[in-house]
Amino acid sequence: MGAQTVYLNGKFMPLEEARVPVLDRGFIFGDGVYEVIPAYAREPFALEGHLERLEASMAGIGLRNPHSRAEWAKLVREVIARNEPDDQAVYLQVTRGVAPRDHAFPVGVPPTVFMMSNALKPVPREQVEAGVAAVSLADNRWLRCNLKTTALLANCLLKQAAVEAGAAECVLFRDGFLTEGSAANIFAVRGQTLLAPPKSNLILPGITYDLVLELARGDAIAVEVRPVAEAEVRAADELWLSSSTKEVLAITTLDGKPVGNGKPGPIFRRMYALFEARKARGRRPAAVGA
Ligand code: PDD
Repeated sequence: MGAQTVYLNGKFMPLEEARVPVLDRGFIFGDGVYEVIPAYAREPFALEGHLERLEASMAGIGLRNPHSRAEWAKLVREVIARNEPDDQAVYLQVTRGVAPRDHAFPVGVPPTVFMMSNALKPVPREQVEAGVAAVSLADNRWLRCNLKTTALLANCLLKQAAVEAGAAECVLFRDGFLTEGSAANIFAVRGQTLLAPPKSNLILPGITYDLVLELARGDAIAVEVRPVAEAEVRAADELWLSSSTKEVLAITTLDGKPVGNGKPGPIFRRMYALFEARKARGRRPAAVGA
C-alpha cells in the first residue's frame, strides 16, 4: 500500500493513473451523482442508507444503475481495504459517461464509475467543544436538492461565501423557512425540543440526519419534524449541523450573534455522546483499541 488506490470503471489503480476523457458528461455538464460514506475502523458506517440514496439519486436523474446493491457494497469495502487509514471517507461518483457534447442523454453509453477514499479527518476537539460559526444566506439552489448530484456549483458558491465571512457553514433559508447548509443538514433546538425540517425536494435526505433523529427518539428527546421558520432559527437555543464527515456539531454563532449562550448546549452534548456511542458500536470488536 502507500499510494492512494482508486477505482475507475472496473479497475483499481493508483490515483495518479486514473484518467477520465474530457467528453465525460461529469466534466462537461456536471451530469452525475455521488455519495460520501464514512468508514470507522475500516467498517463502512450506515452503508445501506448511503446505497439506497445512491439508487434514488440515479433513478432521479434517469441514470442507469450499473451495479446491484451487493456489488456496490463489495466495491466500497474493497476500496477501503486497499487504502491505509482506519477511518476513511469513501467518495463514489457515477456520471452519464463519455459522449459528444449534446444536452440530451446519449444512447447506449456506459456510465463512468469512480471511487476514491481519503482519510476521515477527526473533527477538531475545539470545534466540538466551542462549536462553529455560521452565516445565513438565501437558498438559491435548484428545486431538486433531494438528489445528491455532482453539479454542486451553487453549494460551492454558498460555502465560499460562508468561508469569506469567517464561518464554517451557512444556514440557508427559502421563502422564510430553514432548508439546510451548503454541505450539511441543520437542526434547531427550542427549549427541550429538537426541530428538523421535513424531507422534501428542498433538502438532501441526510444519512446523518436520519441517525440524529433516530438517536433523539431513542433517548426520549422531543422531536418535531416540520417546517422551521427563519424567526425560530434566529431565536433558537441551539443550532446543530450534521453530515457524514462533520458528524454532529454545534453552531454557536449565527451572523456573528451568539446562539443561546454562545456555547454548545445541553441537548447537543447529549446528542454528541449518543453519536459517539453509536460509532463505537459500529467498530468491529477486533478493531476496538487497535
Ligand atoms: N455532503 N446536505 C448537503 C447539501 C450535503 O452536501 C450533505 C453531505 C448533507 C449531509 O448528508 P449526510 O449526512 O448523508 O452526509 C446535507 C457530503 C458530506 C459532501 O458533499 O461532502
